[in-house]
Amino acid sequence: MEVIADERVGEMVMELEMAVIVPALPPECSIKIKLNSVYHSDCVELMESMEENFVDLTVTSPPYDGLRNYNGYHFKLDSIAKNLFRITKKGGIVVWIVGDKIKNGNRSLTCFKQALFFQTVGFNVHDIMIYQKKNTPFMRTNAYTNCFEFMFVLSKGSPKTFNPLKVKTVRQGREMMPFNKGADGINRKILGELKPEKTRTNIWEYATGLHGTTSDKIAFKHPAVFPEKLAEDHILSWTNEGDIILDPMCGSGTTCKMAMVNNRRYIGIDISEEYCEIARKRLAAASGRMAKLP
Ligand SMILES: C[S@@+](CC[C@H](N)C(=O)[O-])C[C@H]1O[C@@H](n2cnc3c(N)ncnc32)[C@H](O)[C@@H]1O
Repeated sequence: MEVIADERVGEMVMELEMAVIVPALPPECSIKIKLNSVYHSDCVELMESMEENFVDLTVTSPPYDGLRNYNGYHFKLDSIAKNLFRITKKGGIVVWIVGDKIKNGNRSLTCFKQALFFQTVGFNVHDIMIYQKKNTPFMRTNAYTNCFEFMFVLSKGSPKTFNPLKVKTVRQGREMMPFNKGADGINRKILGELKPEKTRTNIWEYATGLHGTTSDKIAFKHPAVFPEKLAEDHILSWTNEGDIILDPMCGSGTTCKMAMVNNRRYIGIDISEEYCEIARKRLAAASGRMAKLP
């Protein structure tokens, strides 16, 4: 195993952390793993060196059925799932974002097989969310255009943190509302207060491509980047400032970047050194931009 922590980014982030109040490392935290680093490693090997009950949130997207040719592709679901369960804190969350391969007109259903396996290692399937894409280049001649991927929200027991994201309601304020329609069929009305916002649904829609997925051109040297906003929305939902966020297959470093800009601590791992370099460059650029902020 070759493990190279990006000390440079780690140091920059540590400087930034001085400006915000970040809680001290939890006592159970592994001293072997340096936070705010991107590691070039097989994720199983690195996760095996982590203490148990260490990570608050994992946001990750595995290789989909070998759909893309990643450098150094190597995938062991069994060990990945067991290690994720071991290192996740009680009440912590793993967001597992997946799609299926379609071969000879038949969907592989790998995503469901994986979700079922996560249950067997001890996770609750807390929610099945949809990542809907605004831009849908992929088309089939004999089926509707696929526009989504699954986001399995797996929890180790009941989630310890939930900061629900809200949307504005269409109508707000005081309004006459239907009330207690009785057996006589008469629709009575009562003056009520409509709330200005409500909790979002579990279908999240994002634009993809440059300035949708991200504005970092360098990220697109990786073939399968997910939107920054998607990672950020999960980070804000399931963690608080200072929490530890992992992406064991971090690719271009989207999860790590959004953890950093939201004052969380991160660990990124990728089996490809080329992708680790992209992630480190994105992190360094984002950290430089943050340092210039008033
Ligand atoms: C779908 S991509 C992740 C993309 C990432 N979410 C982003 O926004 O850039 C999956 C990544 O898993 C990595 N990978 C595959 N097997 C791995 C392993 N055993 N350990 C660590 N990384 C692995 C690949 O190199 C690839 O970058």
